[in-house]
Amino acid sequence: MSQINPVTDLTLDGDVAVITLNSPPVNALSAAVRKGLFEAFKQADADGAAKAIVLVCEGRTFIAGADITEFGSAMADPQLADVQEVIEGASKPVIAAIHGTALGGGLEVALCAHYRVAVPSARLGLPEVNLGLLPGAGGTQRLPRVVGVENALSMMTSGRHVPAKEAASLGLVDELVEEGKLREQAIAFARKVVAEGRPLAKIRDQNEKLDAAKGKPEIFETFRKANARKFRGFLAPEYNIRCVEAAVNQPFEEGLATERKLFNELMSGPQSAAQRYAFFAERQAQKIPDVADDTPVIPVNKVGIIGAGTMGGGIAMNFANVGIPVVLIEVKQEALDRGLATIRKNYERTASRGGITADQVEERCGLITGALEMEALADVDLVIEAVFERMDIKKDIFTRLDAICKPGAILATNTSGLDIDEIAAVTKRPESVIGLHFFSPANVMKLLEIVRADHTSKEVIATSMKLAKKIGKVAVLVGVCPGFVGNRILGQRQREAQKLVMEGAMPWDIDRVLYDFGFPMGPFAMSDLAGLDIGWVKERSKGESIRDVLCEMDRRGQKTGAGYYDYDEARNAKPSPVTEQVIKDFIVKTGANPREVTDEEILERCIYPMINEGAKILEEGKAIRPSDIDVVWQNGYGWPVYRGGPMWYGDHVGLPKVLAKMQEFQAKMGDQFKPSPLLEKLVAEGKSFKDL
Ligand code: CAA
Repeated sequence: MSQINPVTDLTLDGDVAVITLNSPPVNALSAAVRKGLFEAFKQADADGAAKAIVLVCEGRTFIAGADITEFGSAMADPQLADVQEVIEGASKPVIAAIHGTALGGGLEVALCAHYRVAVPSARLGLPEVNLGLLPGAGGTQRLPRVVGVENALSMMTSGRHVPAKEAASLGLVDELVEEGKLREQAIAFARKVVAEGRPLAKIRDQNEKLDAAKGKPEIFETFRKANARKFRGFLAPEYNIRCVEAAVNQPFEEGLATERKLFNELMSGPQSAAQRYAFFAERQAQKIPDVADDTPVIPVNKVGIIGAGTMGGGIAMNFANVGIPVVLIEVKQEALDRGLATIRKNYERTASRGGITADQVEERCGLITGALEMEALADVDLVIEAVFERMDIKKDIFTRLDAICKPGAILATNTSGLDIDEIAAVTKRPESVIGLHFFSPANVMKLLEIVRADHTSKEVIATSMKLAKKIGKVAVLVGVCPGFVGNRILGQRQREAQKLVMEGAMPWDIDRVLYDFGFPMGPFAMSDLAGLDIGWVKERSKGESIRDVLCEMDRRGQKTGAGYYDYDEARNAKPSPVTEQVIKDFIVKTGANPREVTDEEILERCIYPMINEGAKILEEGKAIRPSDIDVVWQNGYGWPVYRGGPMWYGDHVGLPKVLAKMQEFQAKMGDQFKPSPLLEKLVAEGKSFKDL
């Protein structure tokens, strides 16, 4: 065996050279990895005793991509293209042996091998689009040559990790080998290739699948149209599509040049910078400074949920999805039956779309049982209370949980803003109490705000963070304050949106500006969707707000066919002359003075106070770092990922500009706009949030 460099070994197994890469955690293509591979392949190719070469990786995965931490600075030689050239140009068959994930540059390396074998649990993909990029190492030109144009478009614009079995059916994997026997069976496969005299299959020379798409530009137009909503605002999907067009219409080398040019454009642009930031922000959020990685966790084998409404039911599904049994508690049999039926309906809908099998529907429904008595929670490891937002009810529930639940069980509340310390104080075990704030629909939304109260133990925090990952959520640890991080910041935007209407902007003007900024919908369209009558009581309504008036007219949102907007049968929204008149009358009634409101003002009034509130949250220590706030907003509130998040956006607009606007608004409209001392300090010191 010879060690090529600290991360690469080259050994000879009989007549097969085996190159082993070992660069934890994910064998990313750092400078050392590129150098090791380059030299190992050159040596193996020159070694007369080797008839074939196998590339295999140690640790949890095959190469998971370029080393993203190197992006943004000049890369040391050898470049990835040099490595790929020695692999593809080798004079003997090269076999990539894949386990874990072959992603991005990792798959692009494997696509230069002449053959690929994989274990069934492996997954292959080109996820660059999620970093605002495209595969810049020939992936856009090679993948469609293997899997065809439509499959390549779908893989590249979704970034999906394709399971090995599916990859084999697409021709991306030549042979599936047994789990745990990758190395030996890859070597055996290499011998078979040699014995059968199979050719050095170079993907770059395979054009049949591209020929099938030649002269059919409609393939691309149809794809663009079908995905227009999903791709809106993002540059990378369109650039990926253009590269596949180039693969079809240009010779291989020219296609590579097109890929390089478009890759460089994306890499130097603001969207990719924001999306790469988001990737690391999400991982950074998992690190809690005073909770060590090895903090013991509490085994969670059974969960109890109080409240079988939309929220409780959605939360229950998360646990059943990963095989954890759930007991759902309701006060009345009827409500419990309704809750369980809704869960079943949701699963059946997923199954009808092919998301899960009919067996899985039964399995998951079977894991969720119901009970009418809280005593059924005596043996659960975690309880999540998801009832009305009323402090007295919550206190009563936690008092009873304290008496019923076994010692060490985690007692969580799904409150979206109540004081968790006050709730914890009614128990004799405040160290076990934590907030687990799910977002609706809880079985879909990725964000989980984990709320640390004064006495929450580190074990309970560590367990909650790990459990969140297990159920596929993006967790962010926040502190107790009204609305926590997400809703507290949302409150700023909502307040300004309402005020702007009283100043002369129409709801659809405000929605349009925020939609164009990249949010999936504006606040008024959102209200119509959720129902204007949430929290509205007919008997007490006295026309004191525009919402009151609309509800009194039975314009209660999409469900009544009208709210701020008018809706047709297909629920398409149209600005409403009725609402416009209601607003105008209301303005006259209140003696306000409407004026022309510009789009620029709408954006600044809605967004800058959010940034300012984020600064206050940091100052109070309710979020650990600015990027955590951005993770909350990306995953829970539809902030466009290509704009980073409110704090990232603030840095990029420039904090001096944000501060100046807040001061201007404060002078005109009062202390709601008072700049946060942290914002003032950062500006005075010429710093930004990223310097914190
Ligand atoms: N470069 C550098 N570091 C990376 C990395 C990469 N490509 N991928 C993962 N890491 C790091 C993570 O930051 C994390 O570090 P910390 O432990 O310090 O936080 C560590 O590896 C483990 O990552 P995860 O926590 O994400 O582990 P996981 O097991 O949940 O997931 C994974 C593993 C599926 C590989 C996931 O990390 C992932 O999706 N990585 C990114 C893959 C990717 O996008 N590749 C394409 C890169 S761009 C490219 O290749 C361009 C090109 O064309 C040349």
